Amino acid sequence: MNHFLYRDGVLYAEDVPLPKIAETIGTPFYCYATATLVHQYRAFADAFANQDATICYAVKANANQSVLHTLARLGAGADIVSGGELQRALAAGIPATKIVFSGIGKTQQEMAQALDAGILQFNVESEPELEALNAVALEKNARAPVALRVNPDIDSGSHNKIATGRREDKFGIPWERIANAYALAASLPGIEVVGIAVHIGSQLVELSPFRAAFARVADLVTTLRKSGHRIDRLDLGGGLGIPYDGETPPEPADYAEMVRQETAGLACRLIFEPGRFIVGNAGVLVTRVLYVKEGSERRFVIVDAAMNDLLRPALYDAFHRVDPVTEPANTSHKKPVEIVGPICESGDVFASGHPLPPVKAGDLLVIRSAGAYGAVMASEYNTRPRVPEILVNGERFAVVRPRPTIDAILKSEQIPDWLA
Ligand code: LLP
Repeated sequence: MNHFLYRDGVLYAEDVPLPKIAETIGTPFYCYATATLVHQYRAFADAFANQDATICYAVKANANQSVLHTLARLGAGADIVSGGELQRALAAGIPATKIVFSGIGKTQQEMAQALDAGILQFNVESEPELEALNAVALEKNARAPVALRVNPDIDSGSHNKIATGRREDKFGIPWERIANAYALAASLPGIEVVGIAVHIGSQLVELSPFRAAFARVADLVTTLRKSGHRIDRLDLGGGLGIPYDGETPPEPADYAEMVRQETAGLACRLIFEPGRFIVGNAGVLVTRVLYVKEGSERRFVIVDAAMNDLLRPALYDAFHRVDPVTEPANTSHKKPVEIVGPICESGDVFASGHPLPPVKAGDLLVIRSAGAYGAVMASEYNTRPRVPEILVNGERFAVVRPRPTIDAILKSEQIPDWLA
């Protein structure tokens, strides 16, 4: 669902013209549409209305407190990967009983924090992690609810850096060791086995890899139950893709129907960890053209956002559609340009050969589909202040993360006495 549309030749976020926000807070900035967040969350949750499913939003995709508050109000749970994300989710009002803790490198301190909070489950990815969690739980006289994350050896077909379900990836317990890992878990008094977890990658645009992985996991439920393990829950991860460039990822209803087919008769509670699907197209990065530079072979549109603000193109060669905020009078006049940031690296490119109508210094552009893995992956490289985040709701907008001043950035560092 797209809530970034032109009205009378100007791009709006819901009912707010983007130039109005740019005038008020300057550029660059991320802008999120509440209506899209709500629509996407509901689309996913409604698709599973007839199944016993808990939707645990993957906080890593966009951890802004206001985004989390919006989703918490809709009844979302959270999939977290750090103690910091746990604190964020709880602060946003997401109940601990709807929080799952993923990740291959949980510290014992984070485990203790999550046990104290009383989270729904830990998705454990290795035998040493099981032993560590057992020790932490025993110290507290507690039992940690655990699903073992398994590696189904399925290629999700997504970008190499975001595929997680192949045997060579660092994630999950290798298929051939699963039986032993469950036996170990059952022998540890601080561990309570509750289920199985799987997550094969991100930005999947086909159903078939999901189906292949879930079919393997469904077989595993039967096998493990035969060995006496209690498998009540299946955490099927996130990964449902979104359109960036005309892709046609599966609809939630088709995804849900496939899940129903693959898990029929197992009587398991299902858990999902969607991130990108909910926030990806709920956000844009708004930037201003600084210069148009004629290179010897190409035309460079130099904008005031950079790879430190949105890393995806530089890191994954990801495509993000770029459009002018003022609707071009004639779209047939588009020419391919290089849209680049000011950072001193040749990799600081948002789009190469991207068709744009003629633009000039001062024009505003939007970089679309930037709501997921955008602001959360931003840095202050080149001492560029972290890009601010704006939330729109109908005709209202609010700064939900301000742009820090350079003074504040400098004050956050300390000079040792021998240099003072
Ligand atoms: N669950 C687990 C265990 C995950 O590792 C992830 C994402 C998710 C759920 C959410 O996946 P989603 O529904 O958002 O696809 N920075 C990369 C994506 C990294 C994904 C990491 N794990 C990017 O910008 O494409």
